[in-house]
Amino acid sequence: MSANISIDYITHTFKGQSEPTLKDIALRIEPGEKIALIGRSGCGKSTLLHMLAGLLKPSEGCVRIRGHQVTKPSAKWNMMFQKPSLYPWMNVRQNAELGLVFNGQKDPQKINRLMDMVGLKDKADAHVQSLSGGQQQRVALARSLATSPDLLLLDEPFSALDAFTRSSLQDEVAEITSKEQLTLVIVTHDIDEAVAMADRVLIMSANPGHIVGEMKIDLPYPRNRASASFSQQREALMNRFESLVNDHVPHSSEKNADAESGNATQAAA
Ligand SMILES: Nc1ncnc2c1ncn2[C@@H]1O[C@H](COP(=O)(O)OP(=O)(O)O)[C@@H](O)[C@H]1O
Ligand SMILES: [Mg+2]
Repeated sequence: MSANISIDYITHTFKGQSEPTLKDIALRIEPGEKIALIGRSGCGKSTLLHMLAGLLKPSEGCVRIRGHQVTKPSAKWNMMFQKPSLYPWMNVRQNAELGLVFNGQKDPQKINRLMDMVGLKDKADAHVQSLSGGQQQRVALARSLATSPDLLLLDEPFSALDAFTRSSLQDEVAEITSKEQLTLVIVTHDIDEAVAMADRVLIMSANPGHIVGEMKIDLPYPRNRASASFSQQREALMNRFESLVNDHVPHSSEKNADAESGNATQAAA
């Protein structure tokens, strides 16, 4: 079952900082929506995602999932990170079922179904070290899905993978979240990833972190990256991002970041 999320005027200032990292973030996410959150490095995307996951408490405002205030992590809203953080002494199946074991509810059939879903049926008994980076992320995905979450939170989960593996995982995660009726929030600095996966893209600017705009991506799944409509949406998002985020005078630290990111898809990096 998917969850609705409401972000009620979150402002956050880290200890020892004089300026807030996030300011006045107010947002509603409907059940089953696939949301991509894009913005430059350091604008506060991970900070906001940690708040959705209950890993960080905002200094002001709150997150509500199904109307309940989020105060701590839960197996119902699972976060998956860039690095899969698997336990090397356990095999694939043992890593995938970890969340269930913690909850005292082993369910071999469910794990078999998940192994199949993430394409690791033949690897269930393999050691995780013998897997490729993409396969390791699949294990992490199976682990996130094992506890039947309402909401999947992904923080740049595919950025370390090669382009082919990345695009197949993007398609698979979009398909799985649709089929399982999950709400998805993915943080990314990759415009293509946002267009490939999201129903709605939220654009964030920095200093302080704030949602400056959004764009709906109205394309059927699985999305055809070679289609003209995909290219149009990609270009529209790029233009929207640049008009919303690049209009302000950058701080010196941002200028350096701009100089480093040469190509267009990394404009949001
Ligand atoms: N625990 C922390 N203490 C102080 N500052 C932090 C902490 N975590 C993140 N920050 C700062 O908050 C800003 C946003 O960080 P982050 O949410 O990681 O950005 P993003 O994910 O968009 O790259 C950065 O300037 C970062 O240095
Ligand atoms: Mg981050």
